[in-house]
Amino acid sequence: FFTDDDMQPLKGKCVLVTAGPTREGVDPVRYFTNYSSGKMGYAVARAAHAAGAEVILVSGPTSLKPPEGVELVNVISANEMYEQVMNRFDNVDAVIKSAAVADYRPKVINDHKIKKADSEMIVKMVRNPDILAELGSKKQDQILIGFAAESENIDEYAKKKLEKKRLDLIVANNILEDHSGFDSDTNHVTFFFPNGTEKDFELMSKEDVARQLCSSLASMFEKRAK
Ligand code: CTP
Ligand code: CA
Repeated sequence: FFTDDDMQPLKGKCVLVTAGPTREGVDPVRYFTNYSSGKMGYAVARAAHAAGAEVILVSGPTSLKPPEGVELVNVISANEMYEQVMNRFDNVDAVIKSAAVADYRPKVINDHKIKKADSEMIVKMVRNPDILAELGSKKQDQILIGFAAESENIDEYAKKKLEKKRLDLIVANNILEDHSGFDSDTNHVTFFFPNGTEKDFELMSKEDVARQLCSSLASMFEKRAK
């Protein structure tokens, strides 16, 4: 795949990739987050770079090595990711949103460490912006690719997100399946396209999923150029 100079199907394109979880602080020592490792998004960034694209990787906190040849923008919270992605949207050709963005954040971030009490504790949470939905409503001719991590009704939920967020492709996976999803090195995914086409893949390495994704992205650019 994409090693030879002629095999750079994303040459001349600027691709923004998001990866990892976001972290939503509640006091100076604690935060809410999810199990995302960032592996899928980092693999996508590397594959897009190998395919010749200029790549911007907006990443939540991960323990991964920054991919070579890629512009890395580190963020912590969903609001920070929102800002960094929105600021760049007009200047990119595609966005691939692999990040597991926290849907909610604590309403109040305490300046001081919260002290424990004998009673139960309730943290009030408020909604974070849906970055991808907003990109969908603002898009001009950018290609938008989303991910759907589901634990049930995979196809139905993924297709709903594809339509609602005005995506060009959604990559769905079942997070309860073995060797798939969070922190795994492999993933079992299905691609759903707006025209109803589906591509169901075997269990593959995340590197291979990333290459398949870049290859689909390249085909979409090619079709548009015609
Ligand atoms: N996403 C986003 N901003 C959010 C939440 C999600 O950009 N605040 C993006 C993710 O990066 C992913 C896609 O939307 O590409 C789907 O995320 P997912 O969590 O599966 O779907 P949600 O729309 O958040 O719906 P729910 O969590 O209720 O299933
Ligand atoms: Ca969500």
